[in-house]
Amino acid sequence: MTVRTVLVTGSSSGIGRAVTERLLSQGCVVIGVGRDHTRHPLEHPDYHPFTIDLSDISGVTKRLNELWSAHPDIDAVISNAGQGSFGHLENYSPQQIVDFFNTNLLSHVLVARNAAPRLKSRGHGDLVFMGSEAALQGAQRGSLYCTAKFGVRGLAQSLRAECSGRGVRVSIINPGLVRSPFFDDLNFRPGADEHNAIEPADVAEAVWMVVSARSGTVFDEVNLSPQKKVIDFGGH
Ligand SMILES: NC(=O)c1ccc[n+]([C@@H]2O[C@H](COP(=O)([O-])OP(=O)(O)OC[C@H]3O[C@@H](n4cnc5c(N)ncnc54)[C@H](OP(=O)(O)O)[C@@H]3O)[C@@H](O)[C@H]2O)c1
Repeated sequence: MTVRTVLVTGSSSGIGRAVTERLLSQGCVVIGVGRDHTRHPLEHPDYHPFTIDLSDISGVTKRLNELWSAHPDIDAVISNAGQGSFGHLENYSPQQIVDFFNTNLLSHVLVARNAAPRLKSRGHGDLVFMGSEAALQGAQRGSLYCTAKFGVRGLAQSLRAECSGRGVRVSIINPGLVRSPFFDDLNFRPGADEHNAIEPADVAEAVWMVVSARSGTVFDEVNLSPQKKVIDFGGH
């Protein structure tokens, strides 16, 4: 297949970093978006870090326009950046709720708004969203996270219908627990056994399968689960 130029949001950590490394290993050029590329710098001639705070809804479109001007050859977008927060709805302030949806839902909408017309005008491309098992089923303490991920899944399904006639494939990947820094600020994490969590590299493999598929085939949705779901609440 021809070399792809891929925009990966959340490339500085976890799943996005693994996706970036997988794409680079296949000879792709990767433009990686995050707020802080200094914590775990990635040195590679085909990796181009770009700093954007995707929760800054009023500024994000301007920054994305600058990114596309600098890298007009992008033909795949992995909209992955996000963070978790779990708790009872009444314990969030209205501002915390707005901030959460800015990061975990509206940012995906704005990344897609920016990417879709450009990919359509090229006549081909891939738009891949990082959903979650939380996009498939609501759960206790998941009123914000599940709502955001259900929204991302609705976005993916709608854009798929809008874009298919223009050669653009739209997919969503829905992992269960992935062992990543996602859990660093949460009061739970996957159990310690290797069968209790998906690895970021496993999700990266799924992304590669999606973007490298024959152009006539679309993986609409890919669901991944740990072999044995065990959650460690660490005494909470
Ligand atoms: N881990 C899981 O169990 C799991 C399961 C299903 C789905 N997911 C989803 O997978 C995605 C990636 O999560 P992960 O597990 O890889 O977590 P992670 O290791 O914490 O990585 C999150 C990434 O998102 C970026 N990010 C967060 N807020 C951002 C913002 N405002 N602007 C720009 N970038 C931002 C972070 O970069 P900076 O800190 O540099 O900004 C980082 O690169 C998320 O959408 C998450 O919901 C995770």
